Amino acid sequence: MSTRIVIIGAGGQGLVVADILIAARMREPIEVVGLLDDDPTRTGQRVLGIPILGGIGSLPDVPHDAVVVAIGDNARREQITRDLEYRGVRLHIARHPFTSFASDVAAGPGCMISAGAVVTPGARLGPGVILNTRASVDHQSVVAAFAHVSAGATVGADVSIGERTLIGLGASVMSGRRIGADTIVGAGAVVVHDLPDGVVAVGVPARILRRVGQAG
Ligand SMILES: CC(C)(COP(=O)(O)OP(=O)(O)OC[C@H]1O[C@@H](n2cnc3c(N)ncnc32)[C@H](O)[C@@H]1OP(=O)(O)O)[C@@H](O)C(=O)NCCC(=O)NCCS
Repeated sequence: MSTRIVIIGAGGQGLVVADILIAARMREPIEVVGLLDDDPTRTGQRVLGIPILGGIGSLPDVPHDAVVVAIGDNARREQITRDLEYRGVRLHIARHPFTSFASDVAAGPGCMISAGAVVTPGARLGPGVILNTRASVDHQSVVAAFAHVSAGATVGADVSIGERTLIGLGASVMSGRRIGADTIVGAGAVVVHDLPDGVVAVGVPARILRRVGQAG
């Protein structure tokens, strides 16, 4: 019997997850039932042929076994995931078949792993983590809950990335570095020094531009 999955969020990340799950059907017995999104103008539209069935609140009316919370904003993804978990909803890991995970990699519920992602031995991914296209996480690194490693980003060995942190497109984090929670590493940056919680850092080597939430 196949696992019936509902995708929560029909924006860009919802499209990415729909694509991942369609590809994953070659390895896993899954059925993508539909997407739910709180933008009422999206109801009735389709994403890669999969229908948008209504708002998130209509989940109890949609027969399903598990969901993937496909919302790009890290804090919002966490909030919606926690709320659904509280209501007993099961989270599915959306993993594209063209990825490489060492046999001992631990990935939390609700992770989304795009094509080309590589995760080497001893690495750990918290719940709701996004590893985008061609992102790599080297051995013994920890990517905490609801963090996002963007397309083409490279995370060295024994790195720690805090909760809800975004590693931007093509950025690199050198081995052994610690990055706090709610931090943004800009596209193309190279993280050479540890970074604290809640900062925006850019450049090579990455330097703190401002605190998150402060005007640029
Ligand atoms: C770092 C970032 C968050 C800054 O955004 P912002 O606060 O809106 O910053 P601004 O665009 O106002 O730029 C502020 C300054 O930083 C510079 N800057 C912005 N992003 C930069 C980057 N990635 N690398 C180097 N410099 C950067 C700008 O050129 C500007 O410099 P200036 O004042 O000398 O002109 C954003 O540019 C970024 O890289 N985000 C990551 C996006 C990403 O990879 N998303 C992945 C999911 S698709």
